[in-house]
Amino acid sequence: MDPAAYRDRFPILQDCVYLINHSLAAMPAAVEERLAEYARAWKTRGIRAWAEGWWQLPLTVGDQVGRIVGAPPGSVVMHQNVTVAEAVVLSCFDLQPPRNRIVYEEGNFPTVRYLYQAARGAEVVVVPEGEPLQDAIDERTLLVPFQHVLFKTSEIQDVEAVVRRAHEVGALVVLDCYQSAGSVPLDVTALDVDFAVGGSVKWLCGGPGAGWLYVRPDLVERLEPALVGWQAHARPFAFEPELEYAPGVARFLTGTPNVPALYAATAGYDVIEEVGVERIRETSVRRTELLTRLLREAGFEVTSPLDPKRRGGTVTVRTPGFEGVHAELAERGIVCDFRPETGLRLGPHFYNSEDEVRHAAAQIVEIVETGAFERHLGTAHVSRRARAGRRHA
Ligand SMILES: Cc1ncc(COP(=O)(O)O)c(C=O)c1O
Repeated sequence: MDPAAYRDRFPILQDCVYLINHSLAAMPAAVEERLAEYARAWKTRGIRAWAEGWWQLPLTVGDQVGRIVGAPPGSVVMHQNVTVAEAVVLSCFDLQPPRNRIVYEEGNFPTVRYLYQAARGAEVVVVPEGEPLQDAIDERTLLVPFQHVLFKTSEIQDVEAVVRRAHEVGALVVLDCYQSAGSVPLDVTALDVDFAVGGSVKWLCGGPGAGWLYVRPDLVERLEPALVGWQAHARPFAFEPELEYAPGVARFLTGTPNVPALYAATAGYDVIEEVGVERIRETSVRRTELLTRLLREAGFEVTSPLDPKRRGGTVTVRTPGFEGVHAELAERGIVCDFRPETGLRLGPHFYNSEDEVRHAAAQIVEIVETGAFERHLGTAHVSRRARAGRRHA
């Protein structure tokens, strides 16, 4: 795949080296037209826009996400974000002993952790880093909300092993695919997950406000969410006083959808569908392999997996004074981020060229070697060791 063929569709790439796609991917130029389309519909069609597509957007857009993640039509709905999507899932269950355990990994994304910690009656079991999640799952486990790709280190998880164990003991899994969808091939049907969730700001290039929820088709009508609203009613426009769940996955909806966000998001999904996640992955592996090799050759400790089969789209690396390195990179037009535990995070997407990756690695080396990062740190932070340069062979 030639990334050059797509670069002009992402205007920000003309201004900087954009390597922060694990956080907020570059905006497709088509988003502007999509949002103008939304405004035109509101301006010219007014109230009629609801019947002309707006009301159905959480389902029609959900079907598009479904095509990217291996979900059949009618099994994905759109929500504001992952937190709301998982809250709807959680609301389907009574948290009563003996089956009230929620089991997840220590490195789970905080918003997910908070949701289950706050759930009344839940007994949360946190599995320490490095221990297999499946070993903690037993007959007391109700839900296993875990990540496909860990957000901190970009490590791909053994989903099959977790699903197998969960189903063996009658537990259900909620797979958080935020860091995989659009970057790492994903087939929620083949993985046999019960629920899957994700958002769109990262590799899907769809922007904020477009979270998604997949529910395994045979589960859909056996569940009754308590977090519900009129979009989940069988006849929402009859304004009936009593709840009757809609048939199909619409029962997992709440109230008025986030229409502009859903318009915008489709511009991202279109390009992801056009390029194809398999091709994206091939490019991603080449870029992250190169980055990993260059950074290790320079003597830095790469904290993301070294085996490309276990690595998602992001490379994480510890350098001396990496907060300062990050700030200096930003001044030099290289956009990435850092986490205290793992160091710099660099997430090239399919539109990033090999030259950009080489340039970023060379700049990191130069910034450390010359000490250019030091002026961004308080002098107290600059240790002799940091001045000496690289720490790890
Ligand atoms: C794995 C993962 N889950 C969830 C989120 C965010 O959740 P929400 O959509 O609720 O903001 C992120 C990052 O933003 C993430 O990396």
